[in-house]
Amino acid sequence: MLTRNCSTGAVLAFFAAFALSLMACPSTTGPTYHTDVAPLLQRECMSCHQAGGIGTFPLTTYAEAKARKDLISFSVSSRRMPPGILDNSGDCQTFPGARWLDDSEIALLTAWADNDAPEGPVPTDIIKPLPLLGLQGDGIVDVAMAEPYTPESTEQEANDDYRCFILDPERLTDSWLTGYEILPGVPSEVHHMLLFSLLDTDADNEAQAKDDADPRPGYGCFGDAGVDNTNLLAVWAPGRDAVTYPEGTGLFVPAGHKLVMQLHYNLLSGVAPDLTALRLRFADRVQKDALLVSLADENLALEGGLPEANYSFTVPLLGLPEPLEMHGAFPHMHTLGRTLTFTRQPIADQTGEQQECLAHVPNWDFNWQEVAFYDAPILVDGGDRLDVSCTFDTSSRSEDVSWGEGTQDEMCLVFVYVTRENGQRVVELID
Ligand code: HEC
Repeated sequence: MLTRNCSTGAVLAFFAAFALSLMACPSTTGPTYHTDVAPLLQRECMSCHQAGGIGTFPLTTYAEAKARKDLISFSVSSRRMPPGILDNSGDCQTFPGARWLDDSEIALLTAWADNDAPEGPVPTDIIKPLPLLGLQGDGIVDVAMAEPYTPESTEQEANDDYRCFILDPERLTDSWLTGYEILPGVPSEVHHMLLFSLLDTDADNEAQAKDDADPRPGYGCFGDAGVDNTNLLAVWAPGRDAVTYPEGTGLFVPAGHKLVMQLHYNLLSGVAPDLTALRLRFADRVQKDALLVSLADENLALEGGLPEANYSFTVPLLGLPEPLEMHGAFPHMHTLGRTLTFTRQPIADQTGEQQECLAHVPNWDFNWQEVAFYDAPILVDGGDRLDVSCTFDTSSRSEDVSWGEGTQDEMCLVFVYVTRENGQRVVELID
């Protein structure tokens, strides 16, 4: 038993990685639950895998983790878990706070599972899920759906319902959103959220008309607010605590206009009336106005019936009068998306030798969309071009697929969170 455990490749790899002694190799020198595994599960898994969390089963005690040791080992080795979409290995930037295990952490969990999940010495302070801190600071405003909504399936979408709700933050002066938190009414049902600010009265009226035309609360929409002239304000996927935008920055919200919250309901775990609320943090002014700018090409066209259909486009920044600071990126595709790569290179660089990777999504998952921020802002200027390339699996479709807001349409785009060095309104520069 002892010898067999000690001879597995995974255990050796683990020992090598940590430069530990291999001399005696009793099973107690391998990773144990309380000393090694529990702190990792606490940091990377328990926010979702706890009672009432969205992670289908809790992983908060030794017994719970041991019972699923092989499934844990499999799900982390295949990088299904934790569910992050951006490559954070360092090959293409790193994103602080990204859901990502490095190779030594995966080796640790695999070694522990292969060694029959030893418990190790039981500490006096047993590790439990960390409490979520929530949004902190001044200027917090709570807004909620006006009335509960019971999601419904349709013939086309048996398990999902995409719905927009108008929210009124009652801001009487121009302000900037600097952070947010979602309080899902039915956490098992609310699968992701996008928040938009309506920029003028036409947009307010258009959204209201859609709401009025639909007898039930809110109105149907997919991927955006379903009206023109909006700005993206926030993106959320389950398991994420409060999000705060980079220090000193925020997204503009014009005085007196409404917001639209787009929710994706997943109906697999049942249908119950939902009343979701948002906690928003506003500032009257910020050092630097930020904008989530979309890099997109609406000419997207994909042939149906292909396991790998490609689409890419270039955005030359030619004519940009001053550099932009890029703080983060939000890649977006619909359900056929498989991979996305976002790069920049000098326009003059014909060979691509100076190409720099800005974000890479190796396994796109529509359910886990998020804005990810860089360690430090990346400067781009008029001498640069930005390239986005996406791959899709269209084998389930007999028809060609094109750009659009519908669930059957596709997108290939990246929103970038940008500011100007002098802090002035970004919109004045790029309009
Ligand atoms: C952001 C929430 C979240 C986090 C963080 C998370 N999980 Fe999950 N996990 C889920 C959800 C939701 C499922 C159900 C399957 C799905 O939706 O993909 C799941 C499923 C699983 C499964 C079932 C098998 C599978 O792959 O579907 C295992 C095992 C698992 N998680 C382990 C882990 C481990 C280990 C960690 C930490 C390293 C972790 N999870 C972190 C949400 C999460």
